[in-house]
Amino acid sequence: MPTIEELATFCKRKGFVYPTAEIYNGLSGFFDFGPLGVELKNNIKREWWKTHVHQREDIAGMDGSIITHPKVWEASGHTAHFEDFMLTCSKCGQKTRADTFLEAALKIKVEGLTADEINEQVKKHKLACPSCKSSFKEVQPFNLMFSTMVGPKEESSAKSYLRPETAQLMFADFKLVAENARMKLPFGIAQIGKAFRNEISPRDFLFRCREFEQMELEFFINPKNQGCPFIDEVKQHSLFVYSEEMQKTGEEHKKMTIADALKKGVIKTEWHAYWLATEHLWFASLGANPDHFRIRQHVAKEKSHYATETWDLEYEFPFGWKELLGMANRSDFDLQQHIKHSKKDLSLFIEETKEKLVPHVVAEPSLGVERAFLVFLFDAYHDDKERGNIVLKLSPKLAPVKVGVFSLVNKLNDETKKVYDLLKKDLFCVFDTGGSIGRRYARADEQGIPFCVTVDFDTLADKAVTVRERDTTKQERVKLSDLKLYLLSRC
Ligand code: GLY
Repeated sequence: MPTIEELATFCKRKGFVYPTAEIYNGLSGFFDFGPLGVELKNNIKREWWKTHVHQREDIAGMDGSIITHPKVWEASGHTAHFEDFMLTCSKCGQKTRADTFLEAALKIKVEGLTADEINEQVKKHKLACPSCKSSFKEVQPFNLMFSTMVGPKEESSAKSYLRPETAQLMFADFKLVAENARMKLPFGIAQIGKAFRNEISPRDFLFRCREFEQMELEFFINPKNQGCPFIDEVKQHSLFVYSEEMQKTGEEHKKMTIADALKKGVIKTEWHAYWLATEHLWFASLGANPDHFRIRQHVAKEKSHYATETWDLEYEFPFGWKELLGMANRSDFDLQQHIKHSKKDLSLFIEETKEKLVPHVVAEPSLGVERAFLVFLFDAYHDDKERGNIVLKLSPKLAPVKVGVFSLVNKLNDETKKVYDLLKKDLFCVFDTGGSIGRRYARADEQGIPFCVTVDFDTLADKAVTVRERDTTKQERVKLSDLKLYLLSRC
């Protein structure tokens, strides 16, 4: 696996990701996606939407506004609680996020430390500013929401926020979506969109950005009926599990089936177990290595203010096991808060029992698009010494470009262009005439193009082309009349 720095360099060189506006030296925590990056990102989002919305009868989609009513964030608790602790240098004024700084300096897990505990650790270990080595001031909370003014006013009533999570609009619009999509419990609402967090210390390339995208799902159930009708589909699925108990006793994570994790009470609810397995399987279905993942339960201190139980799907990045997807049980916290603050009825009428109730969110799979982007790239990246180039073994479903169309010699370019024109209506292709055929294959490997089609002199006679497969370099002769279907079926 490359380091995160090597991956960032590769991403820039191949046109996946650049630091934003690099001609002005970039802006920390913000990135631009280049020609290949925008395709990969769109493909990830499309695959997520397909499996989480289009292929399910029990989930409806929506797309909420980015600048969100300030009352939403008062009700959700973000105005009061969405903060990280910040250490400020007493001399140079540099600001550092306290928990990640302590974690790196002391090699310990520090989730959920209070301000007093952080101050104590700083004093005890004589920790100093990473820039100028001077002492820190007392730790301060810092709210991570970006604020803005709405309309041509500067007074505080005009203040609003860029959403720090897409989730809240799914609660605020819950009743409308449920009625419009004619949903009956249990059901979910899904959304993909930008979110913004004014991180104190953005780091690790795309891992912790200030502007990012989320793919989120709120799954609502009747709290009196906790059973998951799909649990048998995932009971035999196994994955690495790292429970709160294992973390307390210093045990290693261990592989378990979902059935075992439920039987032993490690995962409390069937729905939580179902969604954790489903998200793990989603990554595996798109080519990620399932053994690079584990599920880790939040210890009591690190749970968000709205969560009764939280599991993270973590991935083993070169910089350690990190959260890829958070999955909280939010109970009825958010809907009750919005009922209280808006004074609107957000309960549902349950036909069978003739009662009104406020549903519970039993699981909230919340995945950062950029983190998924990193995972697919890390697992696809192979430095092939024999070929002398990187081979990006992305699943054909995710590959930015599906087919490279080449001619063996430039004399055949007109013939080759006809093949390109035939394919481009249904598959994103490149028509590459630069350099030797070997050079073009190497370039295609590095761009993750799963299939290359080469037109040669025989094509004129046998009306067939050579199709080369990226991962095996195996070549096959395919009739032009079968080519499109052949490639479509394999992409
Ligand atoms: N909605 C949960 C999160 O943004 O982390």
